[in-house]
Amino acid sequence: MPLCTSRQLVPTKELLLKALKGKYAVGAYNVNNMELLQAIVEAGNELRAPLILQVSEGARKYADQTYLIKLVEAALESSDIPIALHLDHGEGVEICKACIDGGFSSVMIDGSKHPFEENVAIVKQVVDYAHARGVSVEAELGRLAGVEDNISVSEKDAIFTNPREAKEFIERTGVDSLAVAIGTSHGAYKFKGEAKLDFERLAEIQEAVGQGYPLVLHGASSVPEELVKICNDNGAEIPGAKGVPEEMFSQATKLGVAKINVDTDLRLAFTGAIRKHFKENPSHFDPRQYLKPARAAVKEIVKHKIQVFGTDGKA
Ligand code: G3H
Ligand code: 13P
Ligand code: ZN
Repeated sequence: MPLCTSRQLVPTKELLLKALKGKYAVGAYNVNNMELLQAIVEAGNELRAPLILQVSEGARKYADQTYLIKLVEAALESSDIPIALHLDHGEGVEICKACIDGGFSSVMIDGSKHPFEENVAIVKQVVDYAHARGVSVEAELGRLAGVEDNISVSEKDAIFTNPREAKEFIERTGVDSLAVAIGTSHGAYKFKGEAKLDFERLAEIQEAVGQGYPLVLHGASSVPEELVKICNDNGAEIPGAKGVPEEMFSQATKLGVAKINVDTDLRLAFTGAIRKHFKENPSHFDPRQYLKPARAAVKEIVKHKIQVFGTDGKA
């Protein structure tokens, strides 16, 4: 269903193929409310960078899909950069169809918890429905589990994406992009010891699926120390949090990663700014007083992400 705007959403496939050619990655940022959306879109607008706005099942439950779509319509009207609206981690065929029918330009069907054949079958159903309507599809192979840094080769093989399976999966489903498991995980505690990603495996996946195929990195927040410090200095208890070091993204991009998912860093920026505001202004109770610095902090981190992930600046 087209949105009620003069400007329409862009399918992620279009953005990702362009990113692969331009040797950068498009950030995909989770949206749960108006302030997050405004912050992300203002950042993209200022840096002339394309954006993927993603909505999880949790976000749909929290804010209601209709509200989120109306907010995205407003964002389209107030910007002129290419924007995709993507379902993040859709659990089944029905939710993907509901998002496609509601106007999303991209969906993720996350069948990674199912055995390979079942994953193929579910993804194929979504691909058929989505492609008939001009919508892109992302799927996932492997598990985004937190792993110890001394994980054995056989344990890795059981959890991480298998390059040969990735190729077969893409051929059989026709899916537009594939999320890979190479050592990242969701949330603020990604690594117990040293941060390590399996770049050798990523290179093998890229070789198997081809250089022109877009891969996706979930669990890619960097959990910046300074953001965690702002939270902790203002009453939070988030000890020992660790994310993906920023210098790893250029290597990931060279090896085919064209979409990088970020949620945790936005949460840290938003919450840290609110905590700081309350500590400094204990008498405040007007939500606009504390949501304003929270929105500004998210805009700043998204601008930083865009610079780290690269952009041609011509969006
Ligand atoms: O990958 C998960 C995203 O961070 C979304 O999280 O399901 O709590 O909205 P959520
Ligand atoms: P982070 O928790 O690292 O931000 O990952 C977000 C994500 O992968 C959303 O799908
Ligand atoms: Zn994810």
